[in-house]
Amino acid sequence: MAVPGKFITFEGGEGGGKSTQAQRLAQDLRARGLEVVLTREPGGSPWAERLRRAILTEKGRGLAPVEQAILFAAARADHVDTVIKPALQEGRWVVCDRFADSTEAYQGALGTPADVVELLKTVAVDETLPDLTFILDLPPEVGLERAAGRDALDPFEADELAVHQARRAVFLDIAAREPARCVVVDATRPVEEIAGAIAAVVRERLMPPVSAV
Ligand code: TYD
Repeated sequence: MAVPGKFITFEGGEGGGKSTQAQRLAQDLRARGLEVVLTREPGGSPWAERLRRAILTEKGRGLAPVEQAILFAAARADHVDTVIKPALQEGRWVVCDRFADSTEAYQGALGTPADVVELLKTVAVDETLPDLTFILDLPPEVGLERAAGRDALDPFEADELAVHQARRAVFLDIAAREPARCVVVDATRPVEEIAGAIAAVVRERLMPPVSAV
């Protein structure tokens, strides 16, 4: 049986450069000879991509946060079962742009009870938890300005500043609760610098040097 691959997620608010950094890390890992699946949420599998389109429209936004959380979890369950888990079992590494922490930060900050968020995570993710999570942190004012007009489909960008601030606080709280998994990255730094820092953390935490016996 193959040695299981590692699972790395990127999280944070809008405009922090998650997608760019996820791509950069995937490239770096491939250059090291690893097989890498680069994926995203919501989406990442055919059913989850359909749900993505349903959720990220005005109609989807009209749902209550708890209802959104259920749909994000349904999409995630399919993504985990059909893409992430099989890839890890076959020894591939998985780099995912957003995952379950986004439900806690986005739907949680809008009032979905913590026990509901936790239950949905258990159902959708179960034991397929990330080995490492990078939280790309920056003041929402800066992130929103960067993200403005980039993605016409993202209705969450339009939320009030206080909501974005609450999400940032949830992400930082998750990082404080789970320091073994989460690394907070200052996303106001230049792209190259951030990519270098991320690659260094991955090497240090997930690629320990083979010790001589
Ligand atoms: P996306 O275009 O992927 O945006 P981003 O570049 O910010 O990742 O849109 C995804 C949006 O969905 C984003 O605003 C975050 C939100 N979202 C949730 O509200 N809950 C979730 O569980 C996930 C995965 C995403």
